Amino acid sequence: MKSAQKLAPKPRGVRLVRRGVRHGTLVPTPVAPVRRWDDPAFLAECERRWAADLPLPLGGAVAKALPRFEREIEAALQLFDTVREGTSFEGLLLERLSPRRWEAAGATIDAGDTRELEKVFVHALSKGRRVARDLYAKLSWVAHDERDSSLRIRFSFGSEALLDWQKETRRAPHADALAAEAFPECAAITGTKPLVALVERLIGTEPRFSERIIYNNAPGGGALFHHDDEEHQLGVVFSQLEGETGWFALPKRQLAEFVADFAGSKLAKRAGTPRKALRALDDTTDEELSKLLNSDPKFTHALAAVGTFFHLKAGDSILLPSHGPDDVCWHAVYGLGARPSLAHSYGIFAKRR
Ligand SMILES: [Fe+2]
Repeated sequence: MKSAQKLAPKPRGVRLVRRGVRHGTLVPTPVAPVRRWDDPAFLAECERRWAADLPLPLGGAVAKALPRFEREIEAALQLFDTVREGTSFEGLLLERLSPRRWEAAGATIDAGDTRELEKVFVHALSKGRRVARDLYAKLSWVAHDERDSSLRIRFSFGSEALLDWQKETRRAPHADALAAEAFPECAAITGTKPLVALVERLIGTEPRFSERIIYNNAPGGGALFHHDDEEHQLGVVFSQLEGETGWFALPKRQLAEFVADFAGSKLAKRAGTPRKALRALDDTTDEELSKLLNSDPKFTHALAAVGTFFHLKAGDSILLPSHGPDDVCWHAVYGLGARPSLAHSYGIFAKRR
């Protein structure tokens, strides 16, 4: 962040390729290391950025905790490699769980979702009794595209179609505990007290880190531009635990201004002004717009030129604020490095609604 930016090393250019689209070499905005979490200037800058829906890249936020989880991080990478080769996820997940605390409840494959590989259900047990039913870990490809071998595992509960995770809070801590037992390196994030305290300060109440996703972003893959504005979700904390990723992150309103500026003749009618572009961004089926956002190197370079491109390395975190449908930090991710990386992304919720 600004106060510490002088101390950040000058970043080198990063060559970006995603799903076959080459964007060329882009120079990232420096991710300043967090020196002192209680520095008033740092805290003021965090608050300013959070209120403005700007991303908060936090250099080395969880770096101190990583050596303690070296084995778990390597094991998580191994698990992704193993399922990528075709081994069933169910067995691999269950062998990570204590049968005293978790009861296997089957696995399903959603034929309607071509990205989904396997959804494994368990019930939470306490003293032999079921205390939360139908918690799940869902393994999916990040993209429909064969050129992108990125994988992710989402922890949640109940019915996805009925949006149980948005409506109900009772089972969420059990789904969080399931993620923490299956991937103990969760504690590198939730156990980094100054990071948790910063999130608490920004949202004004004690946080709960739920709807956890473990990412294995592959080189040449990643996520297209999107937002995570969901009811009751106040933001996202993403932490790179191994390897590296490239990030574009900026407020939706700023992105809309860029879209309006770059809208060619085909897009001008529905996205030619910032106001129109703001509405156009809500239409996830707009192919012309998606092409501009995700596959136009000129657009990508223009975004990077105004400081919206970040290069996250192991130990770095980034916070993405979410204040509402138009007041939310949009983001896109590029898998970098020589092999698929490991990152954890958690939704930020209020512990008590
Ligand atoms: Fe996201």
